[in-house]
Amino acid sequence: MTESMAPADRAKYAAARRAIDFVEDGMRLGLGTGSTAVHMVRALAELVREEGLRVTAAATSRQTAEFAQSLGLEVTEPGEEKWVDLCIDGADEVDADLNLIKGGGGALLMEKVIATSADQVIVIADASKKVARLGGYPLPVEVIPFGWQTTQALIGELLQNLDLDGHQSHRRMQGGKPFLTDQGNFILDLELQRIGAPHQLSLVLNQIPGVVENGLFLDICDTLILGHEDGSVELQDINSGQIRHERLELAQADNLFSDIADG
Ligand code: 5RP
Repeated sequence: MTESMAPADRAKYAAARRAIDFVEDGMRLGLGTGSTAVHMVRALAELVREEGLRVTAAATSRQTAEFAQSLGLEVTEPGEEKWVDLCIDGADEVDADLNLIKGGGGALLMEKVIATSADQVIVIADASKKVARLGGYPLPVEVIPFGWQTTQALIGELLQNLDLDGHQSHRRMQGGKPFLTDQGNFILDLELQRIGAPHQLSLVLNQIPGVVENGLFLDICDTLILGHEDGSVELQDINSGQIRHERLELAQADNLFSDIADG
């Protein structure tokens, strides 16, 4: 039941569950990565099972592909789908213009490839991810292992000349070893505190030799669904600029949350 779930989890679940309403029969979907995306994949599998929808899914990471397959979803091989109809993914930060920082889970490269191949991108997140200015969350940058220290030094020089409040970076580690992406690359996390000009930063970062991609997702998100701890959601559409608040009845919310609380 709702009480047994962590509040942040309830918020993520509410956003994920609402996003599933956008899925239609026959769609080619892009499935995001992360804890919010896990809720979404589970809700999608439930919908497919209960309503017999036929959808195919391109996954943004090996982890998501394996999870989706374990729930019976049809997952296509990477690159098999040139375009997808709808991509649903999480975010680490989102600003008022629906620009994002992504890559906290290290899947930013595949996430960006699939998001840019989508007719529609829906971002799902708990309300804590909404920020006035991007940059509080460290910006992930995927770099090739060859000469990564040179790439890091070049990034460091570049950052000195940009509108930022921090300039440090470090290579992401996991279990005492360098974190490796699904493509076998490293991640440099950039501690920038505040990003004054995200478009400029994204362009110049991607011109540095050794940089594969950065975690700024600019002008990519069409709809943001923010979940709150009480199970209500906020939908923001980039075209209309409108924000719509929806509140779930407690009974309905309890019903929604019970399936994951039970395991
Ligand atoms: C993974 C991502 C995730 O979408 C992002 O880190 C959000 O994750 P979570 O839903 O667990 O907060 O970009 O690379």
